[in-house]
Amino acid sequence: MADLYVKELNMINPFVIASSPATQGAANVLKSAAMGPGAIVLRNFGHGAGGGSYIGPDSKAMYSGGMCIHSHAVGRQIPDNISTLEQYCEEVALIKKNLDQDIRLWVSVGHYSDILKGGDWEKNWANQAKELKRAGADAVELHFNTPGVAVAKDRIFDYHQLLRHSIQVIKKAVPDMPIMAKLAMESCDVLTSIRVAEAAGAFAAGPTARWKGFYFDLDWRTTEARPGSGYGGTQATPLVCYAIAEARTSGLTIPLYGGGGVFSYEQAARIIMAGSQAVQLGALACSGGVEAGKKAIDGLNRFMDENGYKDMDSLRGDALKLFQMPGEVAAARQERLGDAYRLAEVSNQCIGCRRCVNVCWHQGIRMNGKAAEKTSQCIGCGYCFQVCPTGALKVEKERILSSVFEENHIRRGE
Ligand SMILES: Cc1cc2nc3c(=O)[nH]c(=O)nc-3n(C[C@H](O)[C@H](O)[C@H](O)COP(=O)(O)O)c2cc1C
Ligand code: SF4
Ligand code: SF4
Repeated sequence: MADLYVKELNMINPFVIASSPATQGAANVLKSAAMGPGAIVLRNFGHGAGGGSYIGPDSKAMYSGGMCIHSHAVGRQIPDNISTLEQYCEEVALIKKNLDQDIRLWVSVGHYSDILKGGDWEKNWANQAKELKRAGADAVELHFNTPGVAVAKDRIFDYHQLLRHSIQVIKKAVPDMPIMAKLAMESCDVLTSIRVAEAAGAFAAGPTARWKGFYFDLDWRTTEARPGSGYGGTQATPLVCYAIAEARTSGLTIPLYGGGGVFSYEQAARIIMAGSQAVQLGALACSGGVEAGKKAIDGLNRFMDENGYKDMDSLRGDALKLFQMPGEVAAARQERLGDAYRLAEVSNQCIGCRRCVNVCWHQGIRMNGKAAEKTSQCIGCGYCFQVCPTGALKVEKERILSSVFEENHIRRGE
């Protein structure tokens, strides 16, 4: 079995069950612990249940049916029974008493609505951090994934200034308490956010891809859709991966725990391979439950075993080779595949459906009676190869692409 221990965050594995209904209150945190994650974030208190989750247009397909309920249901949201800091700290103490010692407990502080409400929010946040530390929390997580949304909407604060200031305020209150800066990717430059978080003294940063969204079925009277600030889903993962890879290639070393669209081990692996120490499980935990969380953790372990990644150091950042692929290698791959497309002839599997002719914008293929034939005009763009239903137009794409990597000694897991 691969070693999933994340030394930078002292976590038994890279999975963080993110602040959500699955972590609201001690009972839910302890239930989530059955997934066996590296850390769990107790959801913030006193702000209602939050806007819920808008997973995205393709959520049903993402879950490949059956596995879960839609977490963007119109049904009643989980009520927030905790309204005072004292009660919140009691929950923390209760969790610490019953939680497997190997699982880290992070606690969410700093809800944007405190700022919008006015009052002495800085003092409150500093005080919360102190009390939560006393109650036994392993780290505080700054709830700045949503402020990006709200703050930008109201144009009240500059996100980066607010981020820096808030980290400094909490750091001053609890200098030796790790601060996890959970960051919005909406409406602000996330690379700058990570830089600011690192410079201000955050222990780790969690770039999180969730946006305001408005999407609805065309038969909208009968569906659950509503606008929300939690648009995520697997379509968000590439954005998280880019933010992380960009941070790493810019030389930032702060531990990261990216989040957005992790519905299986594959997306988790991608976020880590882009350079993140850990990954958040949000909607997966909420709507897939304990079994889905366990499955993702087991899946990552299996993937690492099967692909020769013995520990997190070997997995983390392995895809930066692709992100930073030298221009000449990228060009060579395009060139070689293009040549293969250009030179390939139509085989006798052609059924004369004309799809290739339809998508060719270069007169590179034409019908000759009932079968297609290539012409000398073909530039090798490959469009027709994507649409041919029979394999009459085919090249050994994977072999051709990997041949360039092999020649340039670009291998996985080294
Ligand atoms: C139903 C739901 C409620 C959420 N509520 C909060 C919240 O109160 N505070 C917070 O920091 N993040 C909240 N989140 C965001 C998650 O903590 C996490 O960052 C995000 O869901 C990760 O993206 P994913 O759902 O695509 O995995 C919520 C997510 C969901 C699904
Ligand atoms: S590879 Fe491109 S240019 Fe050549 S025949 Fe196909 S679609 Fe036309
Ligand atoms: S798409 Fe394929 S099967 Fe259809 S006409 Fe072109 S080569 Fe023949």
